[in-house]
Amino acid sequence: MKLHPALPDHAPALASAHAQAFDRPWDETDFREILAQPGVAGFLAEAGDAAGVALVRIVGEEAEILTVGVAPWARRRGVARALMAAALGAARGGGAREIFLEVDVGNLSAIGLYADLGFVRAGLRRGYYDRGADGRADALVMRLDLTNADL
Ligand SMILES: CC(C)(COP(=O)(O)OP(=O)(O)OC[C@H]1O[C@@H](n2cnc3c(N)ncnc32)[C@H](O)[C@@H]1OP(=O)(O)O)[C@@H](O)C(=O)NCCC(=O)NCCS
Repeated sequence: MKLHPALPDHAPALASAHAQAFDRPWDETDFREILAQPGVAGFLAEAGDAAGVALVRIVGEEAEILTVGVAPWARRRGVARALMAAALGAARGGGAREIFLEVDVGNLSAIGLYADLGFVRAGLRRGYYDRGADGRADALVMRLDLTNADL
């Protein structure tokens, strides 16, 4: 598995990884636009094909994980853990002291990943996700103290 910083030219591969991981994927244009925003860093994992993606935004001393996703065929091999380590390193290197993310309360694999990395529950956003015909789902807000994290 190769992991490297995501550049705008990687937009097709980033979109491919995202489309494999999510029901409502971001397209190439989305990735180009987000990567052009100030404070945003991205990482792409490749294992022959596009395998995973992570994006982080740093604003002053706070950072936010914008997305992390791994293609089903590449899961449970440490790809997300490596992507998150890169994103957390970029956040800390960019001056962030804490990092937040939102995750669907029912997404036990992602919550397991984040808890394993040291994220703790910081709040709940009721009805945060629109699941179409399935209604709305609550989001768990999770936080990691980057000044203490063992990255
Ligand atoms: C969540 C996701 C990113 C994990 O990717 P992954 O590459 O399989 O994760 P890793 O192999 O790096 O796993 C790291 C740790 O996360 C936890 N984890 C990952 N998948 C898990 C699962 N299905 N059940 C429980 N824990 C899980 C485990 O602690 C795991 O460590 P272990 O394998 O040593 O037990 C992936 O399942 C995914 O893309 N899901 C769909 C998109 C998504 O939900 N993204 C998060 C949105 S907030």
